[in-house]
Amino acid sequence: MKEKRLGFATRMGAVAASVGSAVGLGNIWRFPYQAGDNGGGAYILVYLICVILLGIPIMMSEFVIGRSTHKNMKGAVEQLTPGSPFKYFAYIGVIGALLICGYYSVVCGWVIEYLWNSASGNLLGHDPEQYSQIFNSFIGSPDRCVLWTVLFLVLNFLVLTRGIEKGVERVANIMMPLLFVLLIVFCVNSLLLPGSMKGMDFLFNVNFDKLGWKGAVDAMGQAFMSLSLGVTCLITYSSYFKDDSPLMKDAVTISGLDTLVAILSGIVIFPAVFSFGMEPGAGPKLIFEILPTIFQQMPGGTIWATLFFVLLFFASITSTISLSEIPITFMVDEYKFSRVKALLLTAVLMSAVAVVSALSFSSLSDVTIIGKNIFDFLDFVGPNFFMLLGGLATAVYVGWFLKKEVVHNQLTNYGKRSSRFVQPYIIFCLRYLAPIAIVIIFLHYTGII
Ligand code: PFF
Repeated sequence: MKEKRLGFATRMGAVAASVGSAVGLGNIWRFPYQAGDNGGGAYILVYLICVILLGIPIMMSEFVIGRSTHKNMKGAVEQLTPGSPFKYFAYIGVIGALLICGYYSVVCGWVIEYLWNSASGNLLGHDPEQYSQIFNSFIGSPDRCVLWTVLFLVLNFLVLTRGIEKGVERVANIMMPLLFVLLIVFCVNSLLLPGSMKGMDFLFNVNFDKLGWKGAVDAMGQAFMSLSLGVTCLITYSSYFKDDSPLMKDAVTISGLDTLVAILSGIVIFPAVFSFGMEPGAGPKLIFEILPTIFQQMPGGTIWATLFFVLLFFASITSTISLSEIPITFMVDEYKFSRVKALLLTAVLMSAVAVVSALSFSSLSDVTIIGKNIFDFLDFVGPNFFMLLGGLATAVYVGWFLKKEVVHNQLTNYGKRSSRFVQPYIIFCLRYLAPIAIVIIFLHYTGII
């Protein structure tokens, strides 16, 4: 007898879990540091354009593939278009997920270190400049970094043993709303700091001189990273969606909430950066230097800090769960592995990438690829190569190769909803805009343009 596939209990649960996948360190850690590196306003504008013109359509293309078949990318392509080579892009998704989740878990380890320190009352009480030294000395210590990273992965896989509905859905339903509330409190606090408007100016004043190619590529990669696109994550999640959920509405809700969290994080970070006279382009360590300074001047700072890192931990784990689910579902569906076996194999592979990345700032700091240490290299190729390539594949596949009828049936829930404006928009973006934009980026990498 065919084993019944697990599913989400409610539509809210499915959307919350997808928001849980989208909202994570990408929004709160990566978006601010990338915006800071790339000069602020213009980067954010390009980012928003990428979300609307590429992100939402590609998210829809993943939903169409996943929900029409209730299968992972490979199984879905085999069912929808037998013999099509697009099925091989499933492997890009699986490899991309292993690499991304590997280095991402290292930052989750940093979050646990900060959570531990704030809960034990040791995080705050230093001069603003000292927070940078404290962070550098922490990431330079191999045992602590590896310990927290591995601990994080153990927790991640423990939640996954409970399956989609019980594990993922429950965690996402409770923690996401709380995170929003806390971010809003922090925004108000940052805006009240002296000189905070300089930070708002940095965030929202568009100045293209500071952007350049690098900024545009980063913004596109970041949109894909933040919306969890291109590594078949949302194909995997939507394969568990119910047949009557309104896909376009869900895609807009997920992207809207995700973007809101990213912008709110910017409003927490940059007013404080400028108010305390710090450097906006500090790179991956940005939030770990700034946040303690922000919490420090809030009454009850230690409690706020602890609460924040708890929520950040949950936001991260709902993202790593979705990343881990990609190889797991793939192995279960395609290779008929038991869920436990697939989970163990995924855990071993991810831990290997994670440990190597965790050592990038200490024992392995001399190992560089294209001039970047292993962590920075993965933080670059994950979003800017694997996700863009996967996104290109799903866009071209759904835009050009999938029967119109399949797309129409998914967008209208078999004729029950109208897709008069939505369908032409999605198809236009998938056929032309997304492929052209991504191919231009790849040509740029090769130095042709
Ligand atoms: N979107 C997540 C974040 O912004 O933190 C990261 C992520 C999750 C990327 C799942 C890719 C993915 F498949």
